[in-house]
Amino acid sequence: MKITAFAGSNSSTSINRELVKSALEYFQDCEINFLDINDFEMPIFSVDREKKGYPDQAYAFRKAMEESDAIIVSMAEHNRSYTVAFKNILDWCSRIDMNIFCEKPMLLMSTSTGAFAAGNVMGLAKAMFPRCHAKVVTTFSLPTFEENFKDGKITDSLLLKEFETQIELFKKECNPEVFED
Ligand SMILES: Cc1cc2nc3c(=O)[nH]c(=O)nc-3n(C[C@H](O)[C@H](O)[C@H](O)COP(=O)(O)O)c2cc1C
Repeated sequence: MKITAFAGSNSSTSINRELVKSALEYFQDCEINFLDINDFEMPIFSVDREKKGYPDQAYAFRKAMEESDAIIVSMAEHNRSYTVAFKNILDWCSRIDMNIFCEKPMLLMSTSTGAFAAGNVMGLAKAMFPRCHAKVVTTFSLPTFEENFKDGKITDSLLLKEFETQIELFKKECNPEVFED
């Protein structure tokens, strides 16, 4: 199984990237394509610019989604919304057509330094990604990252249990035969 993973952040110290990394530990047997959204930086989307066509990076991002069997993502929240870096990718890709995620099963996560765990952007993504043809199988949000995550792992036992439950649900949905108990 091929998994494409990314964090919705262009920060070199992204905590969402850390969370994605920790989820990928549960998929050791899979082929992983871990994207850095910095590699998909494009001019700020505008209806004027798109008249000249779409940047190669928009096609490359869509291709990465299309070529995966499943998608693991964690969204960073800036001012109660997507980061500009991710939203720009979403806008460019959506103008090619809305089928960005090709009905691939998605584990959708979020984390932030705050207690609401980037709940606003999680709400936005939960509503929007299915419109971009993601099959959002399950979600997980990690609050107050600094308190609950250390050395690549979730430290709070209840949150870890919830995280692992969601990972198992996702695995079963992705590939019921391979991941049967
Ligand atoms: C411009 C800016 C706006 C932010 N707004 C929010 C916010 O609305 N909600 C929130 O929970 N955290 C907010 N934060 C804090 C982020 O959760 C924190 O920077 C986190 O590390 C972002 O995730 P990342 O490290 O994966 O980029 C904001 C941070 C920045 C730089």
